Amino acid sequence: MDTIGRTALGEEFNSQNKENHDFRNNYERLAEIFAYRISNPWFLISSLFSLSSKKHEQRNSQHLMHKFVNGVIQKKKVETNEKAKTMINGCRDEDCSYQKVKSLIEILLANEHQISHEEMRDELITIISAGHETTAKANSLIIFMLAHHQDVQQIVYQEINSIFSDGNLNRPPTYEDLQKMEYLERVIKETMRLYPAVPLVLRQVENEMMIGKYLIPADTVIAIPIYCLHLNPQSYKDPEKFNPDNFLPDVCRSRHPYAYIPFSGGTRNCIGMKYAMLQMKTAISTLVRSYRFSPSEKCPTPKELKLSCTIALEFINGCYVKIESRK
Ligand code: HEM
Repeated sequence: MDTIGRTALGEEFNSQNKENHDFRNNYERLAEIFAYRISNPWFLISSLFSLSSKKHEQRNSQHLMHKFVNGVIQKKKVETNEKAKTMINGCRDEDCSYQKVKSLIEILLANEHQISHEEMRDELITIISAGHETTAKANSLIIFMLAHHQDVQQIVYQEINSIFSDGNLNRPPTYEDLQKMEYLERVIKETMRLYPAVPLVLRQVENEMMIGKYLIPADTVIAIPIYCLHLNPQSYKDPEKFNPDNFLPDVCRSRHPYAYIPFSGGTRNCIGMKYAMLQMKTAISTLVRSYRFSPSEKCPTPKELKLSCTIALEFINGCYVKIESRK
């Protein structure tokens, strides 16, 4: 969450140090309410849901999330105006010698005349929501799989070492470094095959259509179970086995392009997939450079990792590993 705060909004959310972070806590509450409605489907009928106490909680959480993002927009507006004044009065700041990359919020504010405040707020909520929980869950699961596959972790470590062998082992990775992390990319993809952070997506059928021998009426809502699709033995030889070689280029080419869709597919697929891959490679390579991961007594085998699903995958009893410094 801190990463998406910095990159999309240029803001320090400090979400890990704050126990009751307004956005994070209320987002989690909304996800729970969403899951509650799905598992008690009569509450999907708006009139019934509005009679339940959860409706009140939902409104309250939404209000607090709106308040949080409104505060960020307001702060950015003031900063942007201040910056503009500095530019008019002549550039005193040494940073002015180069054009800093604009954050998403700065781009939206620059187009304020084309977008209402509510639209801007909602776009930001979408990006913060879609961009924090998914990568956080995926990063946890990648580390978990590395802990449970020491041979794979060793290869990842060697690959990283060879990339950083130019003397400064502690420098942050560059974009070029991240492109060289081919094996790590396969590990990330294989983890997202077994544990897609978004395990299910929904689509509404616009026009009546056939799927195989089944007639699907217009307006039907179809659930696409990404989690199950990724375990299809027709697409993967030993589907439950963790095998990063499932993502060797030749193996990928031999598969149906939609046999692997952790970021969904088609026109409404994930807009953050490239960002997500860079984020995950940065986070995992940074961690593996400094730490060795092994199974925790709290979860000695992958089978003991208990998962459920709200909007994204949820860990029922946490996702534990043992961490040792490599130094
Ligand atoms: C491992 C990380 C991620 C995974 C597995 C993931 C997965 C997905 C999936 C499956 C969808 C389609 C949802 C649906 O069809 O209902 C989606 C949509 C979306 N994702 Fe991601 N995502 C990830 C990271 C990100 C990041 C980092 C961002 C933002 C920076 C992001 C922004 C979005 C947005 C805005 C949408 C909605 C797109 C639309 O409806 O047109 N995602 N994502």
